[in-house]
Amino acid sequence: MKWHPDLPLVSIERADGPWLFGHDGARYFDAVGSWWVCLLGHRHPAVVQALRDQLGELDHVMLAGLTHRPVVELSERLSAMTDKVLGHAFYGSDGASAVEIAIKMSAHAWQHRAHEKKQSFVCLAGGYHGETLGALGVTDLAGFRQPYEGLVRPAYVVPNADARQARPGEDARAVALRQARHLEALLDERADQIAAIVTEPLVQGAGGMIFYDPEYLRQVRALCDRYSVHWIADEIAVGCGRTGSFFACEQAGVWPDLLCLSKGISGGFLPLSIVLSREEIYRLFLHESASQAFLHSHSFSGNALACRAALAVLDVLEKNDVLAANRLRATRLSARLQPILRHPRVKHFRQIGMIWAWDVADAPADFSRRVYRVGLRNQLLLRPIGKTVYLMPPYLLSDSDIDVLADSVIAVMSEVLA
Ligand SMILES: Cc1ncc(COP(=O)(O)O)c(C=O)c1O
Repeated sequence: MKWHPDLPLVSIERADGPWLFGHDGARYFDAVGSWWVCLLGHRHPAVVQALRDQLGELDHVMLAGLTHRPVVELSERLSAMTDKVLGHAFYGSDGASAVEIAIKMSAHAWQHRAHEKKQSFVCLAGGYHGETLGALGVTDLAGFRQPYEGLVRPAYVVPNADARQARPGEDARAVALRQARHLEALLDERADQIAAIVTEPLVQGAGGMIFYDPEYLRQVRALCDRYSVHWIADEIAVGCGRTGSFFACEQAGVWPDLLCLSKGISGGFLPLSIVLSREEIYRLFLHESASQAFLHSHSFSGNALACRAALAVLDVLEKNDVLAANRLRATRLSARLQPILRHPRVKHFRQIGMIWAWDVADAPADFSRRVYRVGLRNQLLLRPIGKTVYLMPPYLLSDSDIDVLADSVIAVMSEVLA
């Protein structure tokens, strides 16, 4: 609010595909998918139609003692997509609530197994998992956490496997193997107190688009098995095809014990989050006493409209083989962005699936705000994280959308780096 006299709020009237349209008649390419939720594009007709149909049948009903077709279908489809390894679904309303659910479920599951001391968590340096108090405890970004340090129960933080840390002769996999030893050392010493490690698979988003090799996840899986610790994969930002496979974990060939989904799963239309879990964890909560069951509820858990939107999103992804088409889109956009790489201040240009990021050397303190402002002038919505500029656009981009996006990004970078 302090900045707004100088940086007025942009009032958005409507949206279509990758475009946002302001009340003032200006338009903006949503290059950050409205904080990574807009998966296909704004107002995708199939999702709009599904929501219209659902409105004619059922708006919402509490998910206690009652159930409904969209939530059952969605749970079954997601379970099948994990080869039934994560065969149970628990519903929340947003990303942070999914993380709360997962960490409570993990600690409570260990109590059921008579490991009452396993109540601590591990997260990666630069990890972000949301801003409620439990989620902040496993978030290692000082800006979000520091004012509430007295309220949160901090997790153990282990060094991440950021591929940019490669030493001469090392590749990203070697970094992952080296950095996994820190986790091993911690678990070796403290596994009796640790319930779970929470990670954002392959890309740590809010930490500044930190990319790492899938080998790190294989190491996490093996160490969690060896030391009896749960692995919670937070796929809130990276799930739903964002890194190229529907679940980012698929690229490592390993499944976590608990997996959080949110953001893009409803296409960005409605708040929805889901925690998928393994059969062993589910069974621990089948108890006569309610307090021994998993007593966690949200008024809007499994909202029928949000679940119906998610089913429509899965239909579009499947029927149109969107993830295969995204590979072509990504190749085109990466090629069109090449002029940016050549700028001497641009470092570590990286891309995975439908995420692009690069760092800017010697960025001034107000770099992010400058890029945002120059972006708006160039019909582009960009919100760099510190010195890191990134793109997380909606998937369904035509060739000309991609060219427009690339041209605008190049124009913004040329002006900002001039
Ligand atoms: C990896 C990750 N986890 C959790 C969250 C929190 O989600 P929400 O903002 O819906 O609470 C985010 C949001 O950016 C995220 O990127």
